[in-house]
Amino acid sequence: MIPITKAIFDETDLAIIQEPLKSGWVVQGKFVKQFEEMFCEFSKAKHSIATTSCTTSLHIAMAALDLQPDDEVLVPAFTWISTANCVEYFKAKPVFVDVDLATFNIDVTKIEEKITSKTKGIIPVHLFGLVADMKPIMEIANKHNLFVVEDAACGFDSWYQGKHAGTFGDFGCFSFHPRKAITTGEGGMITTNDDAKGKLCQTLRDHGASRSDFQRHSQKYSFLLAEYHHLGFNFRMTDIQGALGVTQMQKADRIMAGRRQGAKQYDELLKGLDWLQLPFQHTDYVHGYQSYVCLFQPEKPTLENWEKMHNRRNEIMSKLEEKGIITRQGTHAVAHLDYYKKKYNISIQDFPNAFLAEMLTITLPLYAGITQEESETVVRELKQLFKES
Ligand SMILES: Cc1ncc(COP(=O)(O)O)c(C=O)c1O
Repeated sequence: MIPITKAIFDETDLAIIQEPLKSGWVVQGKFVKQFEEMFCEFSKAKHSIATTSCTTSLHIAMAALDLQPDDEVLVPAFTWISTANCVEYFKAKPVFVDVDLATFNIDVTKIEEKITSKTKGIIPVHLFGLVADMKPIMEIANKHNLFVVEDAACGFDSWYQGKHAGTFGDFGCFSFHPRKAITTGEGGMITTNDDAKGKLCQTLRDHGASRSDFQRHSQKYSFLLAEYHHLGFNFRMTDIQGALGVTQMQKADRIMAGRRQGAKQYDELLKGLDWLQLPFQHTDYVHGYQSYVCLFQPEKPTLENWEKMHNRRNEIMSKLEEKGIITRQGTHAVAHLDYYKKKYNISIQDFPNAFLAEMLTITLPLYAGITQEESETVVRELKQLFKES
């Protein structure tokens, strides 16, 4: 069996998660704080605020930016559903923008045509570990006075022009779900370089409290509860997860080197195939390889010829599964999911690349420690099944 991914846990993780249990302090505490400090050090973000997931991080970011009903926010049409959902939570409108099939990220040439007087911001997504083209995105955002919240769920150790994902816009939102490079089970992080915004996020994740329980318990007058100036949420990470975050960060370089080695093995084994587009590479980018996602394209994909290729892709993926090799489609064409399609009367023609990406992507198994033999098996079977299909 070659799984789609493997979380990397060792003795250090097993040991550290016992510490909050032994001390009795299991809610957001010293380990969450340490994890946040390590995340700042790694990403060079000025502030890192741990949360329960990337989805709740995005939720906090929208609240911190005071998103209002009927505001519009530009969102790529191919992404995980929560990128758009976080806008819907505020009765605001996600306005979808098609993606570039070469990168799977927002097509920067299509952003400006979607801007109206109601547009308040953009949520670029760094899909699969490739940072969106942030230079033109920030230029457009500055020109139109829009906020930028980076959905960096997949962006750990992903870099663009020397800067880490999540450090370009107002906020970056990360995920530590087990499909991500480092994991705390569920978990998320918000990054920002703005002091006031950082403080606001700390407050919003904790019901709007002026100080956290951890601060209260370590100060005089600990019996006095906090003051509440904002409408907040309970999106606090537990200290058990925080502890896991600390040991995951300690081995992040090793995990990432292992993932990059696995990606390199695929690059070499798959190079030159005209029916498979490999992950985008460019000197401006250091790919984080949250996933190794290819586009199945025996012919140049269009809305006319996709179905035959889609069926063929599914047949190959299903046979790989029978052989114990687990693959996945890349992610969703969110704009075409039922909720959005019906609510905003969206058709496939509106976002053809997002649709084709959903129908034709294949994610190959990738994890730190995937062996040369395992990647050779994946590629050998993939090539053979393509021939037979
Ligand atoms: C692009 C993107 N955004 C948001 C999320 C949501 O992350 P979480 O599961 O931590 O809420 C994911 C998760 O896969 C994602 O891929």
